[in-house]
Amino acid sequence: SAAKTYENIIVEIRPNKVALITLNRPKALNALSTPLLNELVDALQVLQNDASVGAIVLTGSEKAFAAGADIKEMSTKSYMEVFQNRLFGQTDAIVQKIQKPVIAAVNGFALGGGCELAMMCDFILAGENAKFGQPEIKLGTIPGIGGTQRLARAVGKSKAMELVLTGRFMDAAEAERSGLVSRIVPAKDLVEEAVKTAGTMAAFSQPIVSIAKECVNAAFETTLAEGLRLERRLFYSTFATNDQKEGMAAFSDKRDPKFTNN
Ligand code: CAA
Repeated sequence: SAAKTYENIIVEIRPNKVALITLNRPKALNALSTPLLNELVDALQVLQNDASVGAIVLTGSEKAFAAGADIKEMSTKSYMEVFQNRLFGQTDAIVQKIQKPVIAAVNGFALGGGCELAMMCDFILAGENAKFGQPEIKLGTIPGIGGTQRLARAVGKSKAMELVLTGRFMDAAEAERSGLVSRIVPAKDLVEEAVKTAGTMAAFSQPIVSIAKECVNAAFETTLAEGLRLERRLFYSTFATNDQKEGMAAFSDKRDPKFTNN
């Protein structure tokens, strides 16, 4: 299927059922302006509704995934403007509405809203040159797209507090050690490795992948007992699909499964 065209992002559909979204405001290090965020949310929704796409990769440039929200756009806004226009409210849809897996492929700076956007994705693959941080404190503000919550859940209280309160950046090795990123990849190979990894997920049953994603996300929202109950129910629900029958039959027959997404 042909990809839609935007001004601040580039969307490509790869042959392996993977959509690659590239943030494309190089002169501003991919600062997350309102037009960029609106386009990103639109693109994700279009890809969510595109049956030919099974997984999504979100990336930036080798220098910057995204250096934060657009400071120049925000600098003179009043309280009433940000409150009534719900600044960054459109980003809630990324987590709430996108059932397909989204990988953040982070090279260079992922700062402020850039780090927060990466953390909204399902997992982060980092180039060895990646730098993560929540430097909002240096600007007289605090993270506003989930940084205080998701960073604390990802790396624990001590490191989250240090990063949020001092604005210190951490490199890829520290980010991997602390659980923020799943793997480090040489910078030049990062995007293709992410597309390949997304392709692995895109080859599985799409509804089953979405159910698995929903379950892991529930781990961050609920008690262990409720989460286990949800998991067991959703596990049982997979037995209502053809893809579960096909996947298990293919194993017994020693052949590759042919998933049909139902
Ligand atoms: N917003 C707007 N413009 C930005 C930007 C941002 N977040 N980050 C970088 N830019 C612009 C710079 O202003 C500069 O533009 P000009 O050429 O017009 O001056 C251009 O991108 C290149 O940046 P630098 O010259 O600063 O590049 P550098 O290599 O010297 O430094 C950097 C790189 C350390 C990332 C530095 O750009 C920087 O500190 N950026 C801001 C990081 C930041 O504070 N992010 C948090 C934003 S607030 C936020 O995100 C709120 C929230 O949680 C919702």
